[in-house]
Amino acid sequence: MKIFLLLLLFLTLGCEKLNELFLEEDLLQRPPSKRCGDCHARIYEDWKKSRHFHAWVSEEFKEESENYSKLKCLSCHAPHQVDPLKEPLLRVERRHEGVNCIACHFKEETKAMHGPYKVWSPPHPSKEDKNYTKSEMCAGCHQKTYKEWKLTRVKTSCQQCHMKVVDYTWIMDKFPFYFFHSRKALHDHTFPAGKAKPKDLKIIFRDGKLSIVNVGIPHNLPTADQGNPKLYIFVEIFYDDGKKRVIRKVLSAQAKTALRYLEPYFIKIPNHKKAKKIVIHIYRKLSWQKEKEIILVDEVVLH
Ligand code: HEC
Ligand code: HEC
Ligand code: HEC
Ligand code: HEC
Ligand code: HEC
Repeated sequence: MKIFLLLLLFLTLGCEKLNELFLEEDLLQRPPSKRCGDCHARIYEDWKKSRHFHAWVSEEFKEESENYSKLKCLSCHAPHQVDPLKEPLLRVERRHEGVNCIACHFKEETKAMHGPYKVWSPPHPSKEDKNYTKSEMCAGCHQKTYKEWKLTRVKTSCQQCHMKVVDYTWIMDKFPFYFFHSRKALHDHTFPAGKAKPKDLKIIFRDGKLSIVNVGIPHNLPTADQGNPKLYIFVEIFYDDGKKRVIRKVLSAQAKTALRYLEPYFIKIPNHKKAKKIVIHIYRKLSWQKEKEIILVDEVVLH
């Protein structure tokens, strides 16, 4: 019934008038993210699971920013407006929402929602903006990671790994209005960190040294701007005489020991001529995680 009425309206009034009629003025007044969820429910639910949603309320951030008193810390954790390559300014309202919908999509200059598509969106003006598919969109805040990525010259964007296409569906999911729109690729708004796969790390033993190379992730492993994620390398060496030795390395961005893309990291194996087997375990821990997770177990048999 509603659809029929809408169609009738559409035919009699035309597109422009319809846009005016269906414009929901409050959407241009920086509403809470929950309001966007009225029509973008799936994206809203996903974003609530993301670290971006936790950026302000995270215990670690609260502590390290000394209860929000260190002013220089605040803007990336509650940004007003995200523009390519620019460090954002601090938002005034609803800082507890962290990096929210309005910050990433609404532009004061055009009073429209910018996004990757050319859409017809009567409730709010929209503007197609191809920057949304580029790493530069993330660069104003993930400054160090972006620099690392840029140096690798790999063309895969941050979004292709951290905002993968998760579905091909309606990107506005309010009934019955979605019938007026076509299905589109929906990008992952949980912004998963992902996890290195065993094939992302190449391990070889040569000349008494173990070399570990990040061949799969086009930024440091781990990478961080302010957080303190870690990579743990445990090397067990089994000797002919039955003895065993363990070497432990903890790599981090803050200690500047992270694995750079394609640059080998060496671990010298003591008394290697008498070693018969080396077993390597690599774990990681993201900034906000309490426990480490295994990335790989590998074994080198020497003789
Ligand atoms: C230029 C933008 C920017 C500024 C300014 C900034 N941060 Fe962050 N912060 C980030 C980004 C991006 C991350 C995501 C993880 C990473 O890359 O380190 C982050 C992550 C963190 C984390 C880890 C998150 C967690 O939940 O464990 C902490 C803690 C943190 N920042 C504290 C601070 C403190 C303290 C300051 C001020 C000294 C600060 N940040 C200033 C961008 C910024
Ligand atoms: C950190 C910035 C960021 C935040 C926060 C964010 N988005 Fe997005 N959003 C993007 C980017 C980037 C794309 C385009 C991804 C691409 O095309 O590769 C996008 C795409 C979209 C699209 C088009 C459909 C799609 O999945 O490509 C919609 C609609 C959208 N976002 C709505 C929202 C809503 C609603 C929220 C809050 C619940 C939100 N976004 C939060 C950055 C963000
Ligand atoms: C009353 C419904 C409604 C609400 C509420 C709503 N939107 Fe939308 N939005 C739409 C429609 C309709 C489209 C177009 C969908 C299509 O064509 O597939 C759209 C598209 C978008 C796009 C894609 C733009 C592009 O060019 O790629 C973004 C981004 C977006 N909305 C952000 C938001 C944000 C942020 C909020 C909250 C401030 C919000 N929307 C609230 C209905 C709504
Ligand atoms: C306004 C600043 C800002 C922008 C823009 C931004 N981020 Fe973030 N991002 C952060 C902060 C701050 C955190 C850390 C939040 C926390 O953990 O408390 C974060 C965390 C993340 C994480 C989670 C890392 C982890 O340890 O789990 C990923 C992945 C991520 N961002 C990807 C992106 C991508 C991809 C883009 C571009 C589309 C982007 N971000 C744009 C500020 C930003
Ligand atoms: C080819 C895929 C790929 C690309 C491109 C990529 N990343 Fe990552 N990124 C990963 C993987 C996989 C991890 C998880 C590493 C691990 O196991 O801890 C990761 C981890 C992260 C983390 C979490 C901190 C850490 O090291 O554990 C942040 C933040 C991040 N990436 C941001 C970015 C940003 C910003 C860009 C673009 C400049 C980008 N990434 C480009 C695959 C990618």
